[in-house]
Amino acid sequence: MTTTRVLTGITATGNPHLGNYAGAIRPAILASQSANSESFLFLADYHALIKSHEPALIRESARSIAATWLATGLDPERVTFYRQSDVPEILELCWILTTITAKGLMNRAHAYKAAVQDNLTGSEADADKGIEMGLFSYPILMTADILMFNGQKIPVGKDQGQHIEMARDIAQRFNHLYGETFSLPEAVIDETAMIIPGLDGRKMSKSYGNTIPLFEEEKKFRKLINKVQTNSLMPGEPKDPHGCTLFAIYSAFTGAAEQAALRQRYADGIGWGEMKQFLFEFLNEELKDKRLEYNRLMADPIQLDRLLQTGADKARLYASPFLREIRSKVGIGPLA
Ligand code: TRP
Repeated sequence: MTTTRVLTGITATGNPHLGNYAGAIRPAILASQSANSESFLFLADYHALIKSHEPALIRESARSIAATWLATGLDPERVTFYRQSDVPEILELCWILTTITAKGLMNRAHAYKAAVQDNLTGSEADADKGIEMGLFSYPILMTADILMFNGQKIPVGKDQGQHIEMARDIAQRFNHLYGETFSLPEAVIDETAMIIPGLDGRKMSKSYGNTIPLFEEEKKFRKLINKVQTNSLMPGEPKDPHGCTLFAIYSAFTGAAEQAALRQRYADGIGWGEMKQFLFEFLNEELKDKRLEYNRLMADPIQLDRLLQTGADKARLYASPFLREIRSKVGIGPLA
């Protein structure tokens, strides 16, 4: 049986929230359990440096992301789970790829163009004001992340599709210049990915300040669920699940039968207080063992480091000989 290599990176800064879990973490973990795929999953900490220059935040985020994925069921025996910065081969490849990447290609990257646009819409004369090279060349680092392992299927959010196209372009150019080396990666964009609403009903997102942290302590977790906005219908009045934040959150974790049962309770006029209690109990049941494990891992960074190091060792078993081959193709290496 041929296996497909699935690879993806996580750049998030800060603590994961319920929306991250329902939309990205949970589906990725389920996918990693499929028999005919081989998963590479990494903490993109060098990417995080583009977003934040606060060492404490970078470190805390890495710790919290690692603990979250492990606590929610990632099996480090099955998945090659590592920290980007523990695999120095990626950065060496990144430079080699930088030397063959057209600047014009990077000029077209959405994130860079948006930053330029921001400058130009203000009264700023310098289009590149405040834009760092990290942001500009970011798609090349992402390409190196992928090509270093010949990743084939790359699950990403819609906003990242363009970067995968760029990775294909760069891989093709390398193959053309130096001979067939890289397979061409393909983006896997889940159009049906759950977007779960936050406290105010808008998409749950750190930038809206409406998130429910995934592993919030139980009492605070209950308080947050109680804060989810609803309309002012009274108990006994029939309610519409469509457009209801509580219903949408529940739906992100359940199948058709459970949703139909709850829809009936809405029709029968369930009160908002009762519904919030129900949702809290349901989510708490889903999360409480994971929360315990998360807290245990957060308190044991030595174990986290050890697990990540083992993952990096596994990753380097592939990256190290492959990089040697790549260096030799471009003319770097022993003279003899
Ligand atoms: N840039 C991606 C994001 O913001 C994360 C990422 C970094 C990534 N390197 C990657 C995703 C390589 C896929 C493959 O979501």
